[in-house]
Amino acid sequence: MLLEKIPARADTAFRADVLSGLASRPRAIPARWLYDHEGSAIFEEITRLPEYYPTRTESALLRDRCEDVAALVGPGRAVIEFGSGSSTKTPHLLGCIEPAAYVPIDISGEFLRESAAALARDFPTLPVIPLEADFMHPIVPPDGVAKLPKLGFFPGSTIGNMVPLTAVNLLRAMLESLGYGSMLLIGFDMLKGREVLIPAYDDAAGVTARFNLNLLHRINRELGGDIPVDAFRHRAIWNDDHSRIEMHLQARADIALTVAGERFEIAAGETIHTENSHKYGLRDARLLLRAGGWAPLKEWTDPKGLFAIILAEAQPPRTAP
Ligand code: AVI
Repeated sequence: MLLEKIPARADTAFRADVLSGLASRPRAIPARWLYDHEGSAIFEEITRLPEYYPTRTESALLRDRCEDVAALVGPGRAVIEFGSGSSTKTPHLLGCIEPAAYVPIDISGEFLRESAAALARDFPTLPVIPLEADFMHPIVPPDGVAKLPKLGFFPGSTIGNMVPLTAVNLLRAMLESLGYGSMLLIGFDMLKGREVLIPAYDDAAGVTARFNLNLLHRINRELGGDIPVDAFRHRAIWNDDHSRIEMHLQARADIALTVAGERFEIAAGETIHTENSHKYGLRDARLLLRAGGWAPLKEWTDPKGLFAIILAEAQPPRTAP
């Protein structure tokens, strides 16, 4: 055992997920581990790529449809953003709906404090109350916000990175956090042809490949791994049955490697599955929202139908037809 090679700060959850993911068949490592400091920076690069349409399409929708959203949402709501990250799309929304408070939630305290401070500078009269939490579980809204009407905000089509069961569980957790009568504004990436989807996840400049391969560098850095990163290549695959793009890391040759003192053998052509990005039709998205307890009120799409933002309301369940 080469345990002395493992840095002391190695995250035990990361180690457990990597070791069980490499041992399982098919091999798979949860996508959340793609986002270390380096991975988050590469993801920001992805959002600016010519092939990666989601970010700029959603931003344009939020900018162009903001007045319509404001008319339905009304003033005086607390905006609760789930997984706010760098909050780049938030100013569009906050600028036109006259919110009473803004609560960004993120698991990464460092990112959260930086982006909350930047927003507080741009909106000096708006109370900004950052909450460091895992939004996959119900949260307790901070004091002063609890009694306000609420608008959940979940842009970026992050919902697409979850399998439907996890997505529904998250929607239900959001409902529990915000309560009946709350609204949710959520982004969905729409189903479209492979000729658009594959380049969006396998760009000509190789930025998405770098994003995916960074996971192996991270394993080497944080878990004392000896993975020959160059022996893997990035693959973006359309899985029609699941209506999703999958990212994989594929072995170019037979590879033997060690991570946290454990040895693995990966045959040429085998892959490690690293991410899912589900694509939805409008009907699918409405059904998913309803399964999570949210009734769709209104949806907006761009002229090419690439992306949708949907406004929904948390309504008490009705079991009768
Ligand atoms: C964060 N998420 C919505 C991105 C997506 O499109 O699924 C992550 C991503 N992976 C590769 N490119 C972008």
